[in-house]
Amino acid sequence: MQMCVPPQTCSFRPQIRVTSEERSSNLTLEASRCFVSARVRRKLLPFWLGARLTSTMAVRGVGLLTGLPLRAQTRTRIRCPAFIRLRCAGTVAADLRREEQPSGSVETGSKDKTPKKTFPEVQNERREQAQRTVLIHCQNKVSERKFLKYLSQHGRIHSHFFYESFGFYAVVEFCQKDSVDSLLKGTQTPANGTEAAIPFRSRFLSLKLRSPPSQGSEQPQVLLNNQLPPSNRKLSELLCAAKSIDDQLNTLLKEFQLTEENTRLRYLTSSLIEDIAAAYFPDCRVKPFGSSVNTFGKLGCDLDMFLDLDETKKLDIQKNKGNFLIEFQVKNVASERMATQKILSVLGECLDHFGPGCVSVQKILHARCPLVRFSHQASGFQCDLTTNNRIAMKSSELLYIYGTLDARVRALVCSVRYWARAHSLTSSIPGAWITNFSLTVMVIFFLQRRSPPILPTLDTLMTLADEEDECVIEGNNCTFIRDLNKIKPSENTESLEVLLKEFFEYFGNFAFSKNSINIRQGREQNKPDSSPLHIQNPFETSLNISKNVNQSQLQRFVELARESAWVLQQEEAAAPCPPSKQPWGLAALLLPSIAQNKKVQKKLPSERIKSLLESVKNNIAQSATHT
Ligand code: GTP
Ligand code: MG
Repeated sequence: MQMCVPPQTCSFRPQIRVTSEERSSNLTLEASRCFVSARVRRKLLPFWLGARLTSTMAVRGVGLLTGLPLRAQTRTRIRCPAFIRLRCAGTVAADLRREEQPSGSVETGSKDKTPKKTFPEVQNERREQAQRTVLIHCQNKVSERKFLKYLSQHGRIHSHFFYESFGFYAVVEFCQKDSVDSLLKGTQTPANGTEAAIPFRSRFLSLKLRSPPSQGSEQPQVLLNNQLPPSNRKLSELLCAAKSIDDQLNTLLKEFQLTEENTRLRYLTSSLIEDIAAAYFPDCRVKPFGSSVNTFGKLGCDLDMFLDLDETKKLDIQKNKGNFLIEFQVKNVASERMATQKILSVLGECLDHFGPGCVSVQKILHARCPLVRFSHQASGFQCDLTTNNRIAMKSSELLYIYGTLDARVRALVCSVRYWARAHSLTSSIPGAWITNFSLTVMVIFFLQRRSPPILPTLDTLMTLADEEDECVIEGNNCTFIRDLNKIKPSENTESLEVLLKEFFEYFGNFAFSKNSINIRQGREQNKPDSSPLHIQNPFETSLNISKNVNQSQLQRFVELARESAWVLQQEEAAAPCPPSKQPWGLAALLLPSIAQNKKVQKKLPSERIKSLLESVKNNIAQSATHT
């Protein structure tokens, strides 16, 4: 894999010479700090002295993790970062941009001949890129030129951008990993008056000016490139100004999809968490999964991470050759689940005490899938860390394949997800509502049912698989072809407008009471149980991914789907001539009036409140069982 771009595409070149004066000039880098009171310091001291922890970190070249002052940890709400993109070049970036379709130009799979990367290829490249990257909190707005000049003494800079989230941050990617090591060597642990810093070194740094700018001096100007999704009003304007419903769907996708910078920050955050986990498990990997990587992410979505300890096992197999077998002495526990809980419990503590920028750490160890939830303040991401969750990783890969095969898939999923959120069919609070994951599977199923199909069934993807694609996880066959280029593109040329309308019609009339949705076979099946909505888990086929959905939520979904299909039909009949100031097409579907107009739906708010109360009650009961 290419480590760095040719000089002409590098956003910053090393030939800028740094004088010793500049080197010791106004700028200094410090490991970000985590200050604690003397009482907490006494408590933590034995831990600091844990030789294993610190020595492993040193081996990894991991700096001392630092963070915001602990008092900041009481702040649970985090703001979505506004990104300020200055420049961005690079192999992965360029590849991803190549895969992005500009608004209004979505092509069917059959026209797009660009070779596509496999999911592991993207993950490995992004991970490697993240390892060459540092996150720097800048106390003040800095002169971009001086900032880059200062950092370039450690090596060539590949790309960088600034963003804002409780302050100014810079993400700086070097061409070589050695440059990061050099930078860390030249970085100091802060020493401060009344509070003590936990001397944990990481790639999350702070940039300070040795002499603060004099009062009245002008703040350096930086080119702002705000990457936040548009406000509702702005979105409504954009949708109304679109030329067609297809254009509206593409506009929505373009405005909400993860930006290149946001994706980088997601991989960088995972990489920083990996450094912390590596203190205990030196060969582990922390891999982002879910909507951050499955092509269906939208700005502001959570960051799901999977701690993969199997990399360690793979290395062990290679080592054990010959007549002798040598094993590590380990502690044993009663079950895999208990091992997962213990690992996550310790990592949760570690993130809480040492993780720079990691706040509001919650250990949710008694859930079906145990996890540690926290906010990464610097990136603005709400994070979920799990382990022993390989199937979810495989689901993300499958969704990545579906999302990459045909450009219409992402646009349709994005609109359906947005529509569901606009009508409170989905929620960030766990409860009896449909999840984004279930909605995505429903769209995939619908696209498998088109004639000719737009997406292949999972069984077809399994038939196309090679030997190296074979994958069995906990007895479940998770085999499918991973090379997208070997999958024949669809012959279907239906427009997004038709697909959206048909989606609503299809599910507005689906026999939910007797049929199950099954993307493995791409056809309805008899429901194996009485859950109102049954969507077969693609890999653990005996499970229902929408088991949580109750009858009233399903009913709301069906009614809104029917209503939306009707609205689109009316528009077609009236043949509006967009653009128009009045909400039309997709914009009309997102209006709350759809839900409010119908008499039958007048009782919905109370249903919603009932469900919310139920969910809150369940959450309280659940958190009572959490450690
Ligand atoms: P967002 O709402 O944007 O976060 O979508 P998401 O796809 O990331 O969903 P979420 O964060 O809830 O879950 C992360 C991933 O876990 C999903 O993409 C799936 O791969 C997996 N997942 C979530 N829910 C289920 C489920 O009920 N069953 C199974 N098998 N996997 C699930
Ligand atoms: Mg998620």
